Amino acid sequence: MPHAVIEGPASETMLKGQPGDSVMQLARAAGLPMFGECNGSLACATCHVIVDEAWAGKLPPATDDEDAMLDTVFDLMPTSRLSCQLRLSDALDGLRVRLP
Ligand code: FES
Repeated sequence: MPHAVIEGPASETMLKGQPGDSVMQLARAAGLPMFGECNGSLACATCHVIVDEAWAGKLPPATDDEDAMLDTVFDLMPTSRLSCQLRLSDALDGLRVRLP
C-alpha cells in the first residue's frame, strides 16, 4: 500500500492509501488543516502543498489548469503543487510534501 508523508508545522503524518487516492483526500481524512474546498476540481487552490525537492522531479508535470490555479496561491514556491492532483502510486511511494 503506497504512502505519502505530509509535514505540518509541528509534526509529520504518514498518509496511507490506495493507488489513485489524492494527497488532499488523505490529508483531510487524517484531520490535517487541508481544506480542498472544490473537492479536487481545480477551482480553489486550498489544497496547496510544497513538494520536497527530492520528489518534485518525479511527479507528473502540472497541467495548464493546475498551473493557472497555482498562480493564485499567495505563498507560491518553486515546488508548489495542488495536492488534489497528486495521486498515490507505487512509483511515488514515500512522497513527501509539507503544508505551506
Ligand atoms: S481541492 Fe480545489 S484545487 Fe485542489
